[in-house]
Amino acid sequence: MIITIRLILLLVFLSLSTNTSQIVYAKGNNNNNVKEACSVTRYQNLCIHTLAQFSNTAGRTPSKWARAGVSVTISEVKNVQAYLTKLKKNGKMKGRNRVALSDCIETFGYAVDELHKSLGVLRKLSKNTFSTQMGDLNTWISAALTNEDTCLDGFEGKTEKKIKLLQNKVKNVSYITSNALALVNKLASTGLEFIGN
Ligand SMILES: *[C@@H]1O[C@H](CO)[C@@H](O)[C@H](O)[C@H]1NC(C)=O
Repeated sequence: MIITIRLILLLVFLSLSTNTSQIVYAKGNNNNNVKEACSVTRYQNLCIHTLAQFSNTAGRTPSKWARAGVSVTISEVKNVQAYLTKLKKNGKMKGRNRVALSDCIETFGYAVDELHKSLGVLRKLSKNTFSTQMGDLNTWISAALTNEDTCLDGFEGKTEKKIKLLQNKVKNVSYITSNALALVNKLASTGLEFIGN
């Protein structure tokens, strides 16, 4: 009887420990996927933070990471755009700041358009037009980055608290955009054989 119980306990222990090590192993793998994907980016911690949710689905496929990077960028740009629009509506920004804010809202609108076009291309990558597609993506995502920088230019040298906050948000989204561009460039350099993997 005692022996049977011991045996059962031993079996339970063994099955638990196998499960645990499998879970840890799987987690380790997922983390490695996002870390490896983000290793080509300039703001790696931010990359890992924003893209970890895609570790399972994107695996080790550059086209999927590029798409994830651009989708996340679109939602982050839209968040900042909504924040800017709210700032303008509440009417606290005056004079030159108000003009700069209106310009920002405009340039963010262009950035959203460029990123949407980019996502459209990433959704239908094709062997025949791959290099044109990569060229378009580079052009549009770089343009989105330029638009974000143009927004920042309007507030250069300002130190008021609410403008600092705005600058931080815009800078942050430009880092996320820069990461997306790096993921697209990675796709461009790994090339065709990875499409659809
Ligand atoms: C930058 O963006 C990430 C992702 O949305 C967010 O977690 C972080 O708080 C942001 N940082 C700033 C300074 O806005």
